[in-house]
Amino acid sequence: MDAIDVLRTKRDGGRLTPEQIRWIIAAYTDGSVPDEQMSALLMAVFFRGMSGDELAVWTQAMIDSGERKDLSSLGRPTADKHSTGGVGDKITLPLAPLVAACGVAVPQLSGRGLGHTGGTLDKLEAIPGWRADVHEEAYLRQLREVGAVICAAGNDLAPADKKLYALRDVTGTVESIPLIASSIMSKKIAEGADALVLDVKTGSGAFMKDVEASRELARTMVGLGEAAGVRTVALVTAMDRPLGRSAGNAVEVAESVEVLAGGGPADVVELTLALAREMLAGAGRSDVDPADALADGRAMDVWRRMITAQGGDPDAALPRPRETHVVTAPASGTLTRLDAFALGVAAWRLGAGRARKEDAVSAAAGVVWTAGVGERVTAGQPLIELHTDDPDRIPRAIEALEGSIGVDTEDELLPLVVDRIGA
Ligand code: URA
Repeated sequence: MDAIDVLRTKRDGGRLTPEQIRWIIAAYTDGSVPDEQMSALLMAVFFRGMSGDELAVWTQAMIDSGERKDLSSLGRPTADKHSTGGVGDKITLPLAPLVAACGVAVPQLSGRGLGHTGGTLDKLEAIPGWRADVHEEAYLRQLREVGAVICAAGNDLAPADKKLYALRDVTGTVESIPLIASSIMSKKIAEGADALVLDVKTGSGAFMKDVEASRELARTMVGLGEAAGVRTVALVTAMDRPLGRSAGNAVEVAESVEVLAGGGPADVVELTLALAREMLAGAGRSDVDPADALADGRAMDVWRRMITAQGGDPDAALPRPRETHVVTAPASGTLTRLDAFALGVAAWRLGAGRARKEDAVSAAAGVVWTAGVGERVTAGQPLIELHTDDPDRIPRAIEALEGSIGVDTEDELLPLVVDRIGA
């Protein structure tokens, strides 16, 4: 095989054969096809797209670059969830223990945040002692004994994606539906769960700002999951405003614990339950109502065991910021705009997120707001609290918030669950 033939075929709008796809993914992963040639192919895919058949083979080749886990020895159904990333999206934290409390094991291999959306592992690392790295044996033991694990993916999980994603990042080829779908689904299918629920975010704070593009991404990913034998459903959900009342690390852990204790913001509770119902249905347990496990404390029990199993202290105080700054409501009336992207950028600039993979994040950094869209506010009331360890970061965070707050404006908000895609 010749890499130039493969990339010329795609450049000219032709279809790649399964052999060509399998060969180039394997050869790029082992280093025999260099970055220059793969960059050209990615750009050709960006402009020409891929057929459904090509994409299924491409995704399978990415899975085959590593190991597909077999969780059948657990002896109980398994389900996982993936979010395409949003601001204040802490749903995995209450969701994984909730679903486990309902009898379905949740093997959740997560990532770290990049840019304005937070990463689940970064948030959990705000808990004193908690470790993201769990070895294979301990991973299976925790799934068996506790029912839920949220940890970092090892190097054997779709290694082709690690190289491809890094290359896409520097070649302007991230925003391609087939490349995003294969990247996400190769990792999620390799994780080995029986059922998968995708939370595809849409709106200013999401990867896909446009509802139609989000639907197409959702349909593409559901098709890939089903083709690989994983029962897959996607909810397309609102990210025109942030979720809950906080974005950052420790602040999102605190809010998740509130939800597990039976309180917390209504949108976080609603989305957690909607996703839990889909995960349980996918795993064949639609007879169980997750609202019961949330109300009677079983989900909180699993949370405490899950955190303890990974070295964390669920009772320890969470890190507090050295500096805070309050932004007040600009007028009295109904809060009609709280822009997700702006709040995400503010939290990021305060130190909650990273600009490069190697950067460290601050556990105490983040943003907390006292009112959500649709609620009444009074001019001058404290509305947004900025948390940081570094006061020099505050002016740039305030800058990010310019124009992000609207009172009595004509903004039209998306419903929390915009669409459901899947059987
Ligand atoms: N998340 C991924 O894992 N891959 C992408 O391509 C985009 C988001």
